[in-house]
Amino acid sequence: MKKLCLLGLVATLASHPVWAETKPAALKDKDAFVSDLLKQMTLDEKIGQLRLISIGPEMPRELIRQEIAAGRIGGTFNSITRPENRPMQDAAMRSRLKIPMFFAYDVIHGHRTIFPISIALASSWDMDAIGRSGRIAAQEAAADSLDITFAPMVDISRDPRWGRTSEGFGEDTYLVSRIAEVMVKAFQGVSPANADSIMASVKHFALYGAVEGGRDYNVVDMSPVKMYQDYLPPYHAAIKAGSGGVMVALNSINGVPATANTWLMNDLLRRDWGFKGLTVSDHGAIFELIKHGVAKDGREAAKLAIKAGIDMSMNDSLYGKELPGLLKSGEIEQSDIDNAVREVLGAKYDMGLFKDPYLRIGKAEDDPADTYADSRLHRAEARDIARRSLVLLKNQNNTLPLKKSATIALVGPLAKAPIDMMGSWAAAGKPEQSVTLLDGLNAVIGEKGKIIYARGANITGDKAVVDYLNFLNFDAPEVVDDTRAPQVLIDEAVKAAKDADVIVAAVGESRGMSHESSSRTDLNIPQSQRDLIKALKATGKPLVLVLMNGRPLSILEENQQADAILETWFAGTEGGNAIADVLFGDYNPSGKLPITFPRSVGQIPTYYNHLTIGRPFTPGKPGNYTSQYFDDTTGPLFPFGYGLSYTTFTLSDMALSSTTLNKTGKLDASVTVANTGKVDGETVVQLYIQDVAGSMIRPIKELKNFQKVMLKAGEERTLHFTITEEDLKFYNTQLKFAAEPGEFNVQIGLDSQDVQQQTFELL
Ligand code: NOJ
Repeated sequence: MKKLCLLGLVATLASHPVWAETKPAALKDKDAFVSDLLKQMTLDEKIGQLRLISIGPEMPRELIRQEIAAGRIGGTFNSITRPENRPMQDAAMRSRLKIPMFFAYDVIHGHRTIFPISIALASSWDMDAIGRSGRIAAQEAAADSLDITFAPMVDISRDPRWGRTSEGFGEDTYLVSRIAEVMVKAFQGVSPANADSIMASVKHFALYGAVEGGRDYNVVDMSPVKMYQDYLPPYHAAIKAGSGGVMVALNSINGVPATANTWLMNDLLRRDWGFKGLTVSDHGAIFELIKHGVAKDGREAAKLAIKAGIDMSMNDSLYGKELPGLLKSGEIEQSDIDNAVREVLGAKYDMGLFKDPYLRIGKAEDDPADTYADSRLHRAEARDIARRSLVLLKNQNNTLPLKKSATIALVGPLAKAPIDMMGSWAAAGKPEQSVTLLDGLNAVIGEKGKIIYARGANITGDKAVVDYLNFLNFDAPEVVDDTRAPQVLIDEAVKAAKDADVIVAAVGESRGMSHESSSRTDLNIPQSQRDLIKALKATGKPLVLVLMNGRPLSILEENQQADAILETWFAGTEGGNAIADVLFGDYNPSGKLPITFPRSVGQIPTYYNHLTIGRPFTPGKPGNYTSQYFDDTTGPLFPFGYGLSYTTFTLSDMALSSTTLNKTGKLDASVTVANTGKVDGETVVQLYIQDVAGSMIRPIKELKNFQKVMLKAGEERTLHFTITEEDLKFYNTQLKFAAEPGEFNVQIGLDSQDVQQQTFELL
């Protein structure tokens, strides 16, 4: 005790931090270190640590620095260069206890180099590529003085009307969980305390992807079994992988906002899952407890949030203002505040900031001469990862690959759209550094070939939508229309098409259409572009659609009109080059859909692993009184796991090593995959399991494993998958995670529908 007081005195006198006075051994013991520091802090200093402040252009920097020096801010976000963050850390070093700040940002799919959006990364099914994207993002962000990212975003998304589908890794629990683990490890590297790592904070805890009707910020109402079985595992996987932080979701869960949800944060996250890190509210979410109707005023909102376990208040307006009064009146206890502060200090400790507050800020003389220099980008990696994420949906008559000597009519509002190529949440990416499709094709086309470019259409002819998309872009609107009449644009594109051998049309959504707060009632390509596609089709020239979008679109008609369709999502900084690689056959596409494509918006939900029902629709056997919509074909347009290649693959000789499995045993499922085409290529072999009869209804199938394999033309290989009891477990009505003896179907396929099947029994 005496020693601590002494240290406190030293802190006020000495020019360097009190915690730097502690012996190095003390730094090794996080709990003791944090407890020591906590004991020296005043109430104001403690509450200051709980405030996470957004730095915007409207923020007077001097004021922020004063607040930091007074110990009233624990961390900031949205300020993303070393010269910007150094003065703030200097201010923290002038504060009484010199507790370092941390600097956060939304590094979702790249930092300066922008990789494909998350749904695209998931389409690669390539854990190595996904991990590389995360590691590079971390290195770039750390080199720009950032300590923590608000990622990975692992919300299961089964409703493509939700604009944030683009930010997640799709509809499947197993695939998203695998990626969650990979991303956390990639961001944090060997340790989040290393200078080239950043801390992950998985989001949005929890169930944000299940907002009713796909309408952003709407309520979530879900059975406990569905939660545990389908929606919670990805967050849990991220936490098991060591995610230092958790961002709490904006939505409510079964009537209680996540931000005020004691069960969610205290019982599930900390008690059941053993999470020992930092929880952060989402932007302004504590204030929104009033809007949710669970707090009558700011005071009650702050009380609910801290009691429920929100450590840090993002864009804080209430913790700073209300916690002192709440403590004084006895409505909250000192331990409520101390527990939260402990996690903030612990996270800073884990980020390595107590060892060196300038770990990622570095010295001014080492700052990059040009923060935005192209030499700081990882272009080769971005191109490689992007091409792995593209999904070939159709390729009639081998329309693709294109000949490099062809005359190509390149049309569409997304052919020359550098901002859109980066997708939403493009971190510190600069549009002028991204390669458009026009750039990419031009770079490849041979001496004999030719590109004729025509815009052909605006993104949408709906002015209200354009205004909505530009609402927040005060400086430079993102969606800029060509002011010529729509028919003039179409005529120009048709002329280009008539003069060409083949048409490549870049169509879909602008990036803002698949973003936060960008829910849609309709999944069609906007009418202006559909009119263009119709006119192009009428020319009779081969038509290749290059789709750019952040969610599955309903492209029933376009699928009939086009000869080939390549889903490219938003492919990032090197998108244009990566797409060109695939269009010209320099890379053989290998992506597979991580989310089902519906035929129409009315079919939603269309996720593949739905529960078995009493009157299932049986393809090929139409009839009344089965589960179907009578006015359209039942089933998706493109199923989960689907994607073509320039070669053909076949599966044969599926076998199980036994027809029974003991609870402690292993079963080997094998299959031979052959490349039966003329070019080398990669494919994803997927293993699904169905529990035929259980104590409760089980899904028609669930992905349990996959392997991405590269095969030379003519090569074949036998793949092996191990199945254990663990793969058969599920949450039963008592929420007990257990497998039940009985029959299981094992299916192996190149997508979720076209599969081979064998059966075994769990004893
Ligand atoms: C709100 C978003 O919901 C969240 O995902 C993001 O991390 C924060 N804003 C900070 O930008």
